[in-house]
Amino acid sequence: MNFRMTNEAEFNLAYEKSISNRDDFWDEIATYYHWQNKWHTVEKCSMKDASFRWFEGGKTNICFNAVDRHLKENGNRIAYIFEPNNPDESATTITYNKLHEEVCKYANLLKHFNVQKGDRVCIYLPMIPELVYAVLACARIGAVHSVVFAGFSAQSLAARIQDCGAKVIITADGSFRGLKSVSLKSIADEALVNCPSIKHSLVTRRTNEPIQLGNRDVEIESLLEEMGNTCDITWMDAEDPLFILYTSGSTGKPKGMLHTTGGYMVYTGYTFKNVFAYEDGDTYWCTADIGWITGHSYIVYGPLLNGATSVLFEGIPTYPDPGRFWEVIDKHKVTQFYTAPTAIRSLAKESLEYVSKHDLSSLKVIGSVGEPINEEAWQWYNDNVGKNNCPIVDTWWQTETGGILISPLPNITELIPTYATKPLPGIEPALIDEHKKEINELAASGNLCIKRAWPSIARTIYGDHQRYIDTYFTAYPGYYFTGDGALRDKNGNYRITGRVDDVIIVSGHNLGTAPIEDAINEHPFVAESAIVGFPHDIKGNALYGFVTLKTDKKMDETLIRNEINKYISEAIGPIAKLDKIQFTSGLPKTRSGKIMRRILRKIAEGDFSNFGDISTLLNPEIVEEIKNSRV
Ligand code: WTA
Repeated sequence: MNFRMTNEAEFNLAYEKSISNRDDFWDEIATYYHWQNKWHTVEKCSMKDASFRWFEGGKTNICFNAVDRHLKENGNRIAYIFEPNNPDESATTITYNKLHEEVCKYANLLKHFNVQKGDRVCIYLPMIPELVYAVLACARIGAVHSVVFAGFSAQSLAARIQDCGAKVIITADGSFRGLKSVSLKSIADEALVNCPSIKHSLVTRRTNEPIQLGNRDVEIESLLEEMGNTCDITWMDAEDPLFILYTSGSTGKPKGMLHTTGGYMVYTGYTFKNVFAYEDGDTYWCTADIGWITGHSYIVYGPLLNGATSVLFEGIPTYPDPGRFWEVIDKHKVTQFYTAPTAIRSLAKESLEYVSKHDLSSLKVIGSVGEPINEEAWQWYNDNVGKNNCPIVDTWWQTETGGILISPLPNITELIPTYATKPLPGIEPALIDEHKKEINELAASGNLCIKRAWPSIARTIYGDHQRYIDTYFTAYPGYYFTGDGALRDKNGNYRITGRVDDVIIVSGHNLGTAPIEDAINEHPFVAESAIVGFPHDIKGNALYGFVTLKTDKKMDETLIRNEINKYISEAIGPIAKLDKIQFTSGLPKTRSGKIMRRILRKIAEGDFSNFGDISTLLNPEIVEEIKNSRV
């Protein structure tokens, strides 16, 4: 079995084998990596207990596989082309040799501060090479990284640090975002007030703005110079934790998805190679942030495991103008480009000249991730970026899945606009109906589940295995429930229709309604609130808040609206701000007191056609009021 599938017959063969003989299939794929010790058991998994163990007995290190393994033959190959926020600052290249040196220095630095195998390290950095060094340094010495997206607020950062009990944080003075800069250090300082587990805050420089140094703070630039540029590998058991990454849930507390070493490595490397049809000499670019799973799996690990050359982009799509993506593709002759529908939609509304003045002929494969891609955006991407000549890989997956589960393979899978198409080898999707029964007919729609485990499935929610079981393995016993709805055509192609739970995807970011409501309810004038999503041309979904104020409080509504968004920004980050806020004297509730979001969703969408039976509501009269005062 080849690691890379190059035609339909090979794909069919691989898929068939992965289902009929799962263990042999993964046993073979895993041999493409370096293992210090071979595993004795390919997998031992139980959906019932949410217990997943892959390649047990095996010892490896993902940093070794991502970096060291390439040095002998390809040490001078470029691992990253760093494209800074400011286009006038020249791009720099980082070879695998250089990457190795820098990672070793960071690893030695962590050791210097007494970070040991199993310790958690929080990384709160902009999209600069140091972020990659820090992540790989953790992996090298067996520390567990928890990267927090640099757009998150101090409260969100603190909650994540507290949850995982990180010992060290690595951050920067600030980050550049177009013409603006964000003072990351001061946000981290605010967070750390409530984080006693942190012993050291290691600060690198990017914006060179003034910073305040407290007791726990260490400026690391000169210290790194003193660190050795080699560092021994800590060999890890296949099931040793690799990282924790937080994702939104339906309760206030974010879920720390824990991924482990061996299975995650095998799966992300395999899917990167195949989904992007990556060949030596290609230049790949994923525009995500490393603070999200897409960046973990398909900027850091997947590409490096394949010795790939990637663009690492610090900036934003619209700076200095909305042609930046296309300019960078042209400049670095990018061959595979991977971005999100929200970015495509926002750039599609700009003059076509921004695209056409750049030469995009280097592109071979273009990809989409993070939310359903609507037909119009798909066509625009295909016509103007791919020039009808590049397969679009619409890749469906999740923080929980570690890697891509459903996606076309370039020049192998027949494309259907808006369809993520076929499951990859090892993945068995199922659609479940409202009676909790698996639907056997091909053409159908239902809740999307996965029947059997794959190597990179999350192992648990850090510190709360019961919540892991309750969230993903209880609604449909025996299956992993994704939280998404999907449609399947008669040929077995999947189209993801969107979330069916209380998570709303805004501009590709997962947001749980509960944490936003919690933030709003902190406002002294707010009695109660409910958040729903409504369709938005660019963001995909935007947030609509129904808010009930305390009756004894009087305040200007515009002022409260602004304050509510300020509360949300502080608790979560600006990404969770509401587009619309409607004040109402009450919320529609069932007799057991549950808010009927279904009705609110329809009102937010402006669809008053059929609310269903509202007579069972505790307060049916409120529906009319809310309808009439829709904003
Ligand atoms: C959504 C991002 C439709 C989906 C990798 C999923 C998608 C959630 C697609 C996970 C796609 C991701 N088509 N929807 N190609 N990719 N999604 O954890 O709702 O940030 O459950 O992982 O994004 O978001 P997360």
